[in-house]
Amino acid sequence: MRVALGADHGGYELKEAISKHLKNQGLEVHDFGTYSTESVDYPKYGCAVGYAITKGEADLGILICGTGQGISMAANKIPGIRSAVCSETFSARMVREHNNANILAMGARVIGVGLALDIVDIFLKTEFSGGRHANRVDLICDIERGEII
Ligand code: RB5
Repeated sequence: MRVALGADHGGYELKEAISKHLKNQGLEVHDFGTYSTESVDYPKYGCAVGYAITKGEADLGILICGTGQGISMAANKIPGIRSAVCSETFSARMVREHNNANILAMGARVIGVGLALDIVDIFLKTEFSGGRHANRVDLICDIERGEII
């Protein structure tokens, strides 16, 4: 599996921990930065990871900022991106099973490293259920195309 990572300065240290964790599992990591704790603008990293997913350069993405919120909002502006902020494992499983989320966003100022790594593992291993959930995700895509559903 190819995983795209992105973070702002608030998420840099957690991104580094996640990168190491994923590489230890033999996963292919594409790190889109940031590469230090110097202050940067989170939308750039949400954008880079989002397009890596929609261009097929990575299978799933992980975004980190202080809260996970801003960087997730930025990524969700890209058609085809379904980024979900998760602070616990139940949601991490459900956003894959039901919503076919393709990006996990987390807040480094919200949760600790141990919980974040558990959330990452569950998000990456859970498959989309399809079926009635596919119809609902298709409706989200209709909205992206400008349809009023
Ligand atoms: C940066 O200070 C902070 O605003 C950012 O990391 C994030 O929390 C925004 O949503």
